[in-house]
Amino acid sequence: MEPTSIDALLNETRAFAPAETFTQQANLNDPAVYSEAAKDFEAFWAKAAEGLDWFQPWTKTLEWSPPYAQWFVGGKLNACYNCVDRHAKTWRRNKAALIWEGEPGDERVLTYGDLSRETQKFANVLKSMGVSKGDRVCIYMPLVPEVVIAMLACARIGAPHSVVFGGFSAESLQDRINDAQAKVLITADGGWRRGSVVPLKKNADDALKTCPSIEKVIVLDRMGIDYPVHMQSGRDVWWRDAMEQAALECPCEPMESEDLLYLLYTSGSTGKPKGIMHTTGGYMTQVNATTQWVFDLKEEDVYWCTADVGWVTGHSYLVYGPLSNGATCMVYEGAPDYPDRDRFWAMIEKYRATIFYTAPTAIRAFMKWGESHLQKHDLSSLRLLGSVGEPINPEAWMWYHQHVGGARCPIVDTWWQTETGAILISPLPGLTATKPGSATHALPGIFPEILDNDGQPLPLGKGGYLALTKPWPSMTRGLYGDPERFMQTYWSKYPGIYFTGDGARRDEDGYFWLMGRVDDVINVAGHRLSTMEVESALVDHPAVAEAAAIGKSHDLKGQAVAAFVIIREGFEMSDSLKDDLKEHVTKKIGAIARPDDIIFSADLPKTRSGKIMRRLLRDVAEGRALGDTTTLADPAVVQSLKDKYEGQED
Ligand code: WT7
Repeated sequence: MEPTSIDALLNETRAFAPAETFTQQANLNDPAVYSEAAKDFEAFWAKAAEGLDWFQPWTKTLEWSPPYAQWFVGGKLNACYNCVDRHAKTWRRNKAALIWEGEPGDERVLTYGDLSRETQKFANVLKSMGVSKGDRVCIYMPLVPEVVIAMLACARIGAPHSVVFGGFSAESLQDRINDAQAKVLITADGGWRRGSVVPLKKNADDALKTCPSIEKVIVLDRMGIDYPVHMQSGRDVWWRDAMEQAALECPCEPMESEDLLYLLYTSGSTGKPKGIMHTTGGYMTQVNATTQWVFDLKEEDVYWCTADVGWVTGHSYLVYGPLSNGATCMVYEGAPDYPDRDRFWAMIEKYRATIFYTAPTAIRAFMKWGESHLQKHDLSSLRLLGSVGEPINPEAWMWYHQHVGGARCPIVDTWWQTETGAILISPLPGLTATKPGSATHALPGIFPEILDNDGQPLPLGKGGYLALTKPWPSMTRGLYGDPERFMQTYWSKYPGIYFTGDGARRDEDGYFWLMGRVDDVINVAGHRLSTMEVESALVDHPAVAEAAAIGKSHDLKGQAVAAFVIIREGFEMSDSLKDDLKEHVTKKIGAIARPDDIIFSADLPKTRSGKIMRRLLRDVAEGRALGDTTTLADPAVVQSLKDKYEGQED
């Protein structure tokens, strides 16, 4: 992606006001909602919390002792009850909850009644394996209905889940299981991705060699009998066998508002991935409400969020947000170009999807594949489009608007993070005039500021750090087992204020323009990676003495990993070693971390205190003139690297 200059962005003059017909029918169509929320944000969120069913009302809306918030103190509820039971008790029992397609083309529809039955039975399976309230359960599965059932069953009995994306390696899975000290692992024999089998059970077996906390493994038979896996007796149980004996009814555990709902691991700029904690009442309140506000969700909608449940988008806007609203959700297991590049459009046509939520990286791929794939399909059912995961470049926004949305659908560019739990900055589709590339405004009840290094608010037009000055219900309650790192990462730059790690500016009209990460976190195809994780994976290889990884702009992925590597004596700088190193990172972390470029280097640009200057490496990798090199210990290093790189780009 050619980085659009910030000045060009801030001078964006195209604006798309909501159609009057859309505004009239929108869930939120009175601009007074913003001022109402600003006047008393606690009362505003308390009203939103009434959108859930509570077993016991709360006595205090907010207890704020930075960095720790408690929302809806004293209230009791259950997330699974809100996503399943309360719908299964009504006519929605026979409404489709999940419309699922596997990559090979297998199809299943589960009603809220089906979800209720399966979830209760599976909750009983978990209980029979000794899982009780507070025990952590790890889930490592393909995107099949059972992964949703597994998550909801955990929520039902109060066992926090930790979903690990099926694309992660055995080692990544192992780290996450051990950090959470999970008692049970739920996995599958395999899953489908671009026509190949992802060997989930095999990876799990490798991971479990050193995971002493795991007592039982439940294995879903996704592939069928001709895909053999090893089952360890006494530890491993087939999903189907366990379900056969399970009783039909399992009551919902009444959870305190602040009881842990789940852990989700994400990369930071240093160290191992961190376990982001989300609790029940505040999280459920905000995902429930924002699904109605941002996606304008209605009873009749067919809602499709293309994210995997391994990421927070899948948690908040594939599972907890839409299901707590009783929505009909499409779910698709596989790749967008399998068997052909029109798979998504074929599914939208087939199921008459009305709301479509995807990532800029996917939109840019569709753009590259061309309009002919869309023209084969009737996309007229769509009425709203969403984007998430990284800044969307204006060209991709315009293409999405014209070719997917038929110039008729509002686009919501939604900014948020694993830590924020729910969307914080986004247009309200019935109220906000959108500008291509801008996430526009904070949602009502959310208070972002752009601050300078010292915490002073910056005037419109000036770039700075995005921070949140007031608490919100779905904010993370911390990092599992590491309160110091929590404090250090988010709350030490500005005391009492949440630091997002993103750079941003506001234009003359007050619109927010997100500029990407300001820390050593990179965003590859909408997924968060830390440069340090990639570096650790590289130096783990016998040929590598030292490595520096950076995110380099990439046409489709937004950013791609590039790594500068110093090799040890006795190894040869060859193309086959490059391939070997790429493979090594894939094996250690997962395919998303695979470097696009490996650049052999004799030295790395460092400051006099020994810190690698990644900014200069980015200049080299992106072919720019070198920025300020005066703080370097030896400025010649980076110049020779630049000369060399220009000769050996691959
Ligand atoms: C980081 C969070 C939120 C779910 C997916 C990613 C970037 C996310 C946008 C957007 C510009 C965005 C930020 C943020 N980001 N959405 N609409 N515009 N940037 O969750 O892995 O926790 O990553 O993604 O840099 O900090 P995540």
